[in-house]
Amino acid sequence: MSLSFANIAIVGLGVIGRNLALNLLDNQYDVVGFDLNTTLVDKTLTDSLKLNRGCFLKAKSLKDVLSKLRAPRVIALSVPAGKAIENVIDELLKEGLTSDDIVIDTGNSLWTDSVERGKKYLGKLTFFCTAVSGGEMGARFGPSLMASGNAIAWQQIKPMWESISAKVDSYGQPVPTGSEGEPCAAYIGPEGAGHYVKMVHNGIEYADMQLICEAYQYLRQVLNLSAHEIGNIFKKWNTGVLNSYLMEISVDILQQVDPKTKTPLVDMICDIAGQKGTGLWSAVESLQVGCPAPTITQAVFARSLSGLKVQRMKVANSIDVVIESSFEIDKTNAIEQLHDALYCSKLCAYAQGFNLMKMTASEQGWELDYAAIAKIWRAGCIIRAVFLQSIAEAYVKNPSLDSLLLDPFFSEELFNRQLNWRRTVASANLLGVSCAGLSSALNYFDAFCSKKLPSNLLQAQRDYFGSHTYSRIDHPEEQKFHFLWSESSRKEVYI
Ligand code: 6PG
Repeated sequence: MSLSFANIAIVGLGVIGRNLALNLLDNQYDVVGFDLNTTLVDKTLTDSLKLNRGCFLKAKSLKDVLSKLRAPRVIALSVPAGKAIENVIDELLKEGLTSDDIVIDTGNSLWTDSVERGKKYLGKLTFFCTAVSGGEMGARFGPSLMASGNAIAWQQIKPMWESISAKVDSYGQPVPTGSEGEPCAAYIGPEGAGHYVKMVHNGIEYADMQLICEAYQYLRQVLNLSAHEIGNIFKKWNTGVLNSYLMEISVDILQQVDPKTKTPLVDMICDIAGQKGTGLWSAVESLQVGCPAPTITQAVFARSLSGLKVQRMKVANSIDVVIESSFEIDKTNAIEQLHDALYCSKLCAYAQGFNLMKMTASEQGWELDYAAIAKIWRAGCIIRAVFLQSIAEAYVKNPSLDSLLLDPFFSEELFNRQLNWRRTVASANLLGVSCAGLSSALNYFDAFCSKKLPSNLLQAQRDYFGSHTYSRIDHPEEQKFHFLWSESSRKEVYI
């Protein structure tokens, strides 16, 4: 049977595009695919023939893509973020795209670019965005999808996205591909909102990864454990509150032997981490909107610092680190303490991410549903974790929760586990083990728990050299005072 029209087009059949196409076919949608690299189109066709479901149509050009879709046409772009998106859209416009046709950017675009594109293409086409998380396997068997843009277009896209997304059962646990469950796909808000939420997801991902790496380093450096032994500890942790995809893959990584040297593969990998920029965007955003996300930012710093290998080696070879040698560590206690330190730090990283979303949402006028965001992160995405069910519950109970630190369940967890957290960070510091993520989270927590910060002195310093004024604790905050610090008869003046 030959088919002349598909339900959706995928432009860009690289790793993510091809797997999204196969996932759509699996779910009985007919797909037309195009890529400048015809080998990728052929590969998708070959893979599609093994499925016996849906129908894949090859397109020779963007014009051909349009001819193989019925109006209003739905075209998903899986091309590199940046200028390439506009190049493809402009080409599609030349080929006859109309205002009712929906173009979906599924890349890791900068959220402000998506806002601008929404404005640029208004009236010319229906611009829509869907941030996709889950990597290659997620795209193929069930990603987490953060959709945003025209709300009417969402009604057309929703059934497709819900069917291809990951699913969870009524306990919030991921279910196998093809099983019934609650979809991890949601409409987040206007253009930009979905990409913003994905950016924060990646910021949390950076923090989560860094915290796991610091736990690994602590076990290696302080307790002298092997990669295999650390893998076993992580395996145990992965059965409890720390259960997550990132923990699961870390167990697998730590237990992998290098076929060449027969030593743990991880020990053979250079300690230099790369980054594509989404963590950096979250860090910059947190600084720009004034919403502290120190654990996310530290995770970005840690990757950059790892890249300064030459400089690191010079410093490491020139200064002897003096540690507290009399410090005694009980192995069993230290592991338990580290578990709690990781859990509490992770919670703070999520609190930072959710607060960042809150802050920008209020600036942009977006009405974000934080429970829905936590729910679609329970499966499919890179940060999927048992923990997200508790976050979802926190926001279901109180949709306008100021901070996750204020949720009764989490505040009790922090109360019960914080001493262990402090012990881990203190011992790491005394023993010269860098743990910037764990300690930044602890400092974040301690600052929020402080009824009095030293910012009174700071504000006085600002007033001293720059007449920047201050508020007084015995007057309403909006009343400003300046002290005449340099005059012989020093006095305070009301501004
Ligand atoms: C996801 C990932 C994905 C990608 C990151 C990695 O949710 O599927 O976050 O988007 O793996 O871009 O980013 P770095 O290369 O910066 O680590």
